[in-house]
Amino acid sequence: MFKVAIITSSDSGYKGDREDKSGPVIRKIVEENGYEVVHTILLPDEKDMLSAEMKRICDENIADLILTTGGTGFSTRDCMPEATLQIGERIVPGIPEAMRSFSMQFTKRAMLSRASAVIRSQTLIINLPGSPKAVNECLEYIITELNHALGILKGEVSNCGRK
Ligand code: MTE
Repeated sequence: MFKVAIITSSDSGYKGDREDKSGPVIRKIVEENGYEVVHTILLPDEKDMLSAEMKRICDENIADLILTTGGTGFSTRDCMPEATLQIGERIVPGIPEAMRSFSMQFTKRAMLSRASAVIRSQTLIINLPGSPKAVNECLEYIITELNHALGILKGEVSNCGRK
């Protein structure tokens, strides 16, 4: 069973002014798909705090997969992609590309998502958008391929047999 950490980036959530509804959506979807949630945290939109937490989770081997929500848009405080790229060792462009492409059927504003995905050591990090609706749409779409991705990353799967 792969281990998942969930990081929510939200100034208002961190201050207690807004309930985090997207973190619980991530938890529900990953648990339904056989993953174990080992860590959840709500942080402000602060690049160095976000990247330090991601780095710690990767380097201490706390989770195989980090899913983030929020901070991928255009507002001046949005910095999740930058925090992620700051500590990533290898970029994974296909996952955000697939999410954006799939999401265009729901809203053309999907093109405004700046989400990134990276690998650091043995952990895959994926940025999801901020709203619960967008999280649901994006994660339900990509989750079918994450087991295979993590299997390869962990060296448990060597053959990329075509589905
Ligand atoms: N993707 C999906 N599937 N559904 C959505 O409703 N909203 C978009 C986009 N991606 C959306 C989506 C919008 S409006 C924005 S601004 C960007 O994600 C960034 O979202 P964030 O600022 O909440 O991280």
